[in-house]
Amino acid sequence: MNGSKTLTYTESALAQAERIRKQERVRILALETSCDETAASIVENGRTIVSNVVFSQIDLHALYGGVVPEIASRAHVEACDRVIDEALKEAGMDLQDADALAVTHGPGLVGALLTGVSCMKGLSYAANKPLIAVNHIEGHVSANYISNPELTPPFVCLVVSGGHSHIVRVNDYGDYTLLGQTTDDAAGEAFDKAARVLTLPYPGGPRIDALAEAGDPHFMQLPHPHTPGRYDYSFSGMKTAFLNAANKMEMMGTALPKADMAASFRYAVVSALVEKAILAARETEAPALAMAGGVSANRLLRRMMQEEADKAGIPLYMPKLNLCTDNAAMIASAAYYRLMKGEIAPLTLNATPALRLV
Ligand code: KG4
Ligand code: ZN
Repeated sequence: MNGSKTLTYTESALAQAERIRKQERVRILALETSCDETAASIVENGRTIVSNVVFSQIDLHALYGGVVPEIASRAHVEACDRVIDEALKEAGMDLQDADALAVTHGPGLVGALLTGVSCMKGLSYAANKPLIAVNHIEGHVSANYISNPELTPPFVCLVVSGGHSHIVRVNDYGDYTLLGQTTDDAAGEAFDKAARVLTLPYPGGPRIDALAEAGDPHFMQLPHPHTPGRYDYSFSGMKTAFLNAANKMEMMGTALPKADMAASFRYAVVSALVEKAILAARETEAPALAMAGGVSANRLLRRMMQEEADKAGIPLYMPKLNLCTDNAAMIASAAYYRLMKGEIAPLTLNATPALRLV
């Protein structure tokens, strides 16, 4: 007996994490499967993309007008290995070259999340690499660290996706205070529902955005919502008014002026988003403002927020367009800062569909 013992996976992961944190170069391989994108990416030091592969399932779901959870899970199972292989190939790396692995464990569709979590737990155990569990929303916020190397906390961030509309204060990496949130629909969800009224294919947000470019934003006035909190949002009133107006026109036999309606709806949602985000940033004296999530790809949102941030003298940051919607690079970035704090996931890690950021 020489006193040495075989380390368990967890002991080995913790020891490796300690060592990795002191390394000059840390490369993390991340997998994202929370909704309808199967994505894998390798990011260096939380800021530089080495490779980024996104397999979109949109074509599989478009037929049904929205994401079908069972189809999403099956498609993730089939695509996981392929996107990981592609990401490694694109980076010119082997699995062993990655310092750590990361995976989204929530929020999202339970079956979709489970495929990713199971895949990465298996891979971590087989390759004996530390695994980092990442909150999808934290991933969206972290996309800003990749597109804006100079951005560091603290800042205020507007997070607007298909499932979330939050204003958060990013106090530090992984440390958030909730300033406001939607009381009903998320902004992306509202865009998708309005698009359905205009019979535009799924996903509706980008379609409304494109159509709106040629329309009159003042064609119709939609209600400006009252909300309980100063920085809260509400989109259901706008959505109902929009639907009622469309029904009325159809009953009168009027063809829907789709571009004007899209422009009016986009203007109503974006004005609310910009107003509250700027208010929150000003009143909390934020040194900077950032945006994140699928809806932050919206052209009007990007233009209006830039104008208002300039007027308020607040530096504005946003992710590049391809990092606004779901991807795994943002997950690898968030994972880096978790790893730097020594946060390693156990092999008992499970999917948490309703995981919260704060
Ligand atoms: O962040 P994301 O890719 O997935 C979630 O985490 O939900 O966001 C998807 C949402 C969808 O509702 C989609 O319609 C919306 O973002 N979206 C947009 C635009 N691009 C994506 N909404 C408005 N304008 C866009 N250009
Ligand atoms: Zn997302």
